[in-house]
Amino acid sequence: MRLAETCFASLETFKPPSHVGLTMSADPQTPLTAQSILGLDVLFSNPVFAGGIGLAGLGAAAAFARRGVISGAALLKRQMLVNIEVSKRDPAYNWVLAWLAQPRDNSGFLARRITRLRNLSVTTSTKSIEKAAGGGGEGGRTHADFRVQPGFGRHIIRHRPGVYIAVNREKASTTSTATGEPHETLTLTLLWQHRNVIAEVFTEAHALAQRFHEGKTIVYAARRMEWAPLGKPRLKRPLGSVILDEGVKERIVDDVKEFLAAQQWYTDRGVPYRRGYLLYGPPGTGKTSFIQALAGELDYSVAMINLSEIGITDDLLAQLLTQLPEKSILLLEDVDAALVNRRQRDADGYSGGTVTFSGLLNALDGLAAGEDRIAFLTTNHIDRLDPALIRPGRVDMMVRIGEATPYQAAQMWDRYYGDIDLDGAGREKFLKRLQELGLFGDSQDPDVPKRHTSTAAIQGLFQFNKGDMEGAIKMAEGLIPRTFEPESSSPESMIKSPA
Ligand SMILES: Nc1ncnc2c1ncn2[C@@H]1O[C@H](COP(=O)(O)OP(=O)(O)OP(=O)(O)O)[C@@H](O)[C@H]1O
Ligand SMILES: [Mg+2]
Repeated sequence: MRLAETCFASLETFKPPSHVGLTMSADPQTPLTAQSILGLDVLFSNPVFAGGIGLAGLGAAAAFARRGVISGAALLKRQMLVNIEVSKRDPAYNWVLAWLAQPRDNSGFLARRITRLRNLSVTTSTKSIEKAAGGGGEGGRTHADFRVQPGFGRHIIRHRPGVYIAVNREKASTTSTATGEPHETLTLTLLWQHRNVIAEVFTEAHALAQRFHEGKTIVYAARRMEWAPLGKPRLKRPLGSVILDEGVKERIVDDVKEFLAAQQWYTDRGVPYRRGYLLYGPPGTGKTSFIQALAGELDYSVAMINLSEIGITDDLLAQLLTQLPEKSILLLEDVDAALVNRRQRDADGYSGGTVTFSGLLNALDGLAAGEDRIAFLTTNHIDRLDPALIRPGRVDMMVRIGEATPYQAAQMWDRYYGDIDLDGAGREKFLKRLQELGLFGDSQDPDVPKRHTSTAAIQGLFQFNKGDMEGAIKMAEGLIPRTFEPESSSPESMIKSPA
C-alpha cells in the first residue's frame, strides 16, 4: 500500500496530458494497475525514459553482437583450427617439450613478431668433474647441465615457413591421485589445413628423444604408483665390460635374442610372450651389471623393482607390471625378500608393507600379468626360493653367477692392464698369487684354506692400482673376504684381511 501511494505521488508530479487517457483514481485507496500507470506513449515521450531505453537497446545490441562474434569465432576456430592435447602421462609429453625447445629460424617478418617462447623453465643437473674423472674428493668443481623447456602459458612457434603452431602448456588444478602431482597438459593448435604437420611433429620429437638417448640406457624405478626414470639416462654399459665365467654370458644373450626373434611363434600358438631368467649367486658378481649391459646391447631400458623395499606391496607390483615402459627389461632384485613374507592377504585385504610370495607369483604370471615381457630376477639366496617361483613360465632359465674364476680374473686383468702387460707375464703372476691365497676355492694345500673372491673385489683392487700391475699383485691379499669362516675350526687358520 505504501508503494502504491508513492507511485501515485510521483506520477502526479508528471502531470500527464489529458489526451493520453490515463485514468487515475483520485482515491488513493483504489489500487492502481501497472497498465493504467505506464502508458507506452507517455513513457516514450519522456526524454529520460526514452534515453534509457535507447542506451539499454544499444547495450543489448552490443552484447548480442559480442556474443555473436564470440560464437562466430568459436565456430571459426572449430572449423579452421585443430587442437592436439598431450597429457603429462603420455611418453610423448617430454619428447614434444624437448622438441619445442629446439632452436628455430624465426627470421621472417611475421615470425620475428609473433613467435616467441615465453616463460621458459629450466632443469639443471650437476655432476662433479673430479668424481667423473675418478679423482673423488668433495667440494670439487662441478659441471652443470641446463635443459631449457617451454614454461607454463601460451607460446607460438614457427615450425617451418608459413606453418605456425600455438602451444599452451597448462598445469591443472587437480592432482593425480596416484602421484599427488598436478596434471599437466600441452595443447598444440594448428590451422586445419596444416593438420598433416601433426604426425611430422610427433615423429620429429620421437626421433629427437631417441637421438638424445642414443648410446644410453634409461633405468626406470617405481615412484609412488608409476614408473619414473631414475636419474638421467646412463651411458650404455658395453657387454664386454661384464666378465662372467666362460660361455655364461653368451648362453644368456643368445637365449634372449632367440626369444626376441620368436614373437610370431608365441603369437601363433597363443602362448603369452614372456620369458623369465633368474640370476643367483653371491653379492658383487655382476648380476645387476650384466642385466644393465644386456639392456644396452638390445637397446632396451631397465624397469627395476627391489622387492626388499618397504612400500612395494602386492597391488603396486601387479599394477606396475601391467604398465611396463615400452621396450624394457623388468628387473626384480632380491626376489627372496618376497619369500620371507609368505603371509597371505589378511581378511581385510591388507597384504603388509612388502610383497608377499603369492603376490609375486600372481604378478609374474597371473591374469593381471602383462604380455610381452622379459623379466630378470636376482637373488643372493637361491636356497630360500620356492619351487613354485622357479617353474617354467615364471622362470625359464636359471643361471648361477658365481665367485671369480681364474678365467674371469685373467679377463679382467687384460681389460685393466692389457696395454701395459704386453707379454702377459703380469697376468700369470697375479693368477699365481690368487691361487696361492686359495682364492679360487680349489686349493689342494691343506695349509691354505679354500675361499673365494668376487669380481667386484677384483675390480676394486684394479681401480685402486690404476696402471700399477705390481701394486695390484702386492695388494692381492686384500681380496680375501673380510668375514671369512675357516672350514677347520682352528682359529689359527683364520686369515683376516687388513681393514
Ligand atoms: N663379472 C663382473 N664383471 C665386471 N664387473 C663386475 C663383475 N662383477 C661385479 N662387477 C663390478 O662390481 C660392482 C658390483 O656389481 P653388481 O652390482 O653387478 O653385482 P651384483 O651381482 O648385482 O651384486 P648383488 O648381488 O649384491 O646385487 C659393479 O661396479 C660392477 O662393475
Ligand atoms: Mg645386484
